[in-house]
Amino acid sequence: MDAATALALLLEQSMTPPTSPRPTFEHHLQRDWRNAALVDDVRRGLGRHPRRLSPRWLYDSRGSELFDEITRLPEYYPTEAERSILHERAGEIAARSGADTLIELGSGTSDKTRTLLDAFTATGQLQRFVPFDVSEQTLRDAAEELRARYPGLAVHGVVGDFTLHLAHLPTDGRPMVAFLGSTIGNLYVEERRAFLHNLAANLPVGASLLLGVDLVKSLDRLVAAYNDSQGVTARFTLNLLDVLNRELGADFDTASFDHVAFWDPVHERMDLRLRVNDGQVVDIPGADMRLELNDGEEIRVEISTKFRLPRIVDELAEAGFAVQHTWTDAAGDVALLLADVVGRSAVTGSASAAAG
Ligand code: SAH
Ligand code: TRP
Repeated sequence: MDAATALALLLEQSMTPPTSPRPTFEHHLQRDWRNAALVDDVRRGLGRHPRRLSPRWLYDSRGSELFDEITRLPEYYPTEAERSILHERAGEIAARSGADTLIELGSGTSDKTRTLLDAFTATGQLQRFVPFDVSEQTLRDAAEELRARYPGLAVHGVVGDFTLHLAHLPTDGRPMVAFLGSTIGNLYVEERRAFLHNLAANLPVGASLLLGVDLVKSLDRLVAAYNDSQGVTARFTLNLLDVLNRELGADFDTASFDHVAFWDPVHERMDLRLRVNDGQVVDIPGADMRLELNDGEEIRVEISTKFRLPRIVDELAEAGFAVQHTWTDAAGDVALLLADVVGRSAVTGSASAAAG
């Protein structure tokens, strides 16, 4: 910690009442992780065809603000649909899981999570909340707000990448991991498989997972959710080029790119891309790269897979999770699954039969 950070911390501490414990944090993104991983991703992802970048770079401070705006758009149904299930079922989820530690992966602002925290704290069983996110500032802001709202609750933030750092999840007590907002749909199928296996492997038997998934539905609603009329989603994906310009000294002419969202019926996923109207040569000095983009060429910035329940239940079983209960919202738009870690050996038999 440098002197300025230490001073800021001291000042913060001296201004807060002693009754509420300060949030604690741990960092698993080394100081240069962002740069090293970004360079690696840019070299690999932009050097191949079709060109693609990892969605984790979308969430700098500006990106996190824009995502927050997306969740309030009339076209973006998943947030409200998931919130409505949580609102109705949080008490039941708390009772079924019996958890004393709530961990949230990709927690962002932890906005919907308050519904869960209300129910969990009401039972008196919850001791600790562990939000986990790559976006440090968003995590810090959320932790401060939660601390004010839930006095007595220990808040421990983990700054990390859930595709790399699951070994650092707390495993004492009885944890429940919440992974909401269909963020799991942003992983490719092989990444999703590795993620679920790692998660099960890093949790004790008896821990639970509360997973939020978006379900397959009509094409027009899906496309509208990822291409809203106010252009917020477009600003969100285009912000990625600003991130590359800022972090790597690149010279993308962002004004000549369009946001494109289409449904891929083969993989049952939304495919989000940036399309360049006029071809351009882009210098990316930070990645030691020169990129020649032809007219109309596209860079994929995100996929958002939509699920059918039997398939995700099978995938969970294959990774070592037994689904205990499933809830959907009234319209059947999204689902929440509550699963228990049972260990791979207990479920591989049925899963391989189902996968065949
Ligand atoms: N859970 C919230 C936010 C979803 S947005 C909701 O349901 O609305 C996705 C969140 O995951 C963002 O906060 C982003 O910073 C975080 N994120 C994206 N990729 C990540 C990764 N690889 N590791 C950790 N967090 C990640
Ligand atoms: N997890 C969200 C989803 O798949 C992330 C998201 C929402 C998103 N809108 C987006 C990602 C637009 C990229 C672009 O629905």
